[in-house]
Amino acid sequence: RTGNPKSKISPLRRFHDDAGIHQSSGSRFRHANRVPPKGSTEKKTEITRQNDKFEAKFKRDEAGEEHQARSPRYCFRKSPQIGPESSGLCLIFGKLLFPKGRHVDAIDPAADTSRCNHSPSDLTLQNCRMSRKILVTAALPYANGHIHIGHLVEYIQTDIWVRFQKLRGHHCVFVCADATHGTAIMIRARREGRSEEAVIAAMRAAHMRDFAGFQIQFDNYGSTNSPDNREACHEIWAAIRDAGLVKIRSVEQLFDPVAGTFLADRFVRGTCPKCGAADQPGDNCSVCGAAYTPADLRDPRSILSNAIPELRSADHLFIELEQLRPFLEDWSQNGGHLQPEVARYLKGNFLGDPLRDWDVSRPAPYFGFEIPDHPANYWYVWFDAPIGYIASTREYCRQHGQHAADWWGPDSTAEIHHFIGKDITYFHTLFWPGMLHTAGFSLPSRIQIHGFLTVNGEKMSKSLGTFIKAETYL
Ligand code: 2FM
Ligand code: ZN
Repeated sequence: RTGNPKSKISPLRRFHDDAGIHQSSGSRFRHANRVPPKGSTEKKTEITRQNDKFEAKFKRDEAGEEHQARSPRYCFRKSPQIGPESSGLCLIFGKLLFPKGRHVDAIDPAADTSRCNHSPSDLTLQNCRMSRKILVTAALPYANGHIHIGHLVEYIQTDIWVRFQKLRGHHCVFVCADATHGTAIMIRARREGRSEEAVIAAMRAAHMRDFAGFQIQFDNYGSTNSPDNREACHEIWAAIRDAGLVKIRSVEQLFDPVAGTFLADRFVRGTCPKCGAADQPGDNCSVCGAAYTPADLRDPRSILSNAIPELRSADHLFIELEQLRPFLEDWSQNGGHLQPEVARYLKGNFLGDPLRDWDVSRPAPYFGFEIPDHPANYWYVWFDAPIGYIASTREYCRQHGQHAADWWGPDSTAEIHHFIGKDITYFHTLFWPGMLHTAGFSLPSRIQIHGFLTVNGEKMSKSLGTFIKAETYL
């Protein structure tokens, strides 16, 4: 459950709300549900009268529905996501009070506001405390691979939560996008003799087909290779640079002279420097578990061309995260933004030592956005990927006559919930809040982190035949 510091809703109220538990409290109708003490005719008469009163209210709405209300408190809101087909929702019971197809564009003046302390004329989508604005994201899948059932663990649970919040009458918006940048997509495009744009367009169609097959309903599905994302990256970068967080450092990296590109760790294989196991990846040994850098490997080979890589140096841009330590300590440890075990993990593992500078640039060739003040250098895919959350929201807002600042602006009252897998915790709990904080955006209310799907207790594996694509499952 979330503890959103922006909201004035009490934790208990929020718990009940999220859990779908309706409590009746605090008004002249408080005891309408109680069974009267045996033999108390006076009480019984009063209860009947109260019930008549609020049942009459519901009848006036001509809902055409039997509404077995057990509390008189309700207010209305429209459901903006379904436009002219919108329906009136009773926020307490989550029941339709107006049939779909009849437009409800105002709060019923007879709405009982005893719970939210507004007069009926004050009740709007924005200021009724009962209606929360909730932006929800799921991790942006890479455009270099298909959706598999491991991905679906996340998209299905997020979709369920979003549907629940919408049914509760909250203004809940679910955005996602394809993450399109990086070396892997560049290499795939080369291998297939196509442009990167052609590769990502084809994969986008496949992703959207698979999501539709599982009935995942995004309110917007964007792309990190979009004008909106480029613009948002520029804004956030300018703020980070102006805050004095960027520094340049020369980095030595293996370079494939045949493919003409620097090699990310996973593109290099060789012999483990510790135990001598052959054909090990560039970052750690699958036999003895040793961690190392690709340059430490013996007999390294590029998996792109099988060429022997050369060690070359290039300037990279780094963000000095340590400067953000006071903010990151506070945000990660307080406010209930993280599961307690995650907060403890960060405290013990990353925040326990000086935070390492984050390398956010890659020299050409790279498929991504060029950094405006450093030509021929590109933002690393993990810099622009989460900014895709903002870009997708902007796209959504443009299509629905809303303002993105109402979701991401510093004065936003909206909650932001990111659903992610545990492998990308670091990016979402340290880098991302650090970027948002520096650039003056609203911060996530909650990062909801899940584990992995396993098959017979093991990670899904292509070679063992336990890797199941969404398409195959369907
Ligand atoms: O791990 C991944 O598949 C990444 N593409 C997730 C990105 S989530 C967000 F930050 F964009
Ligand atoms: Zn080893």
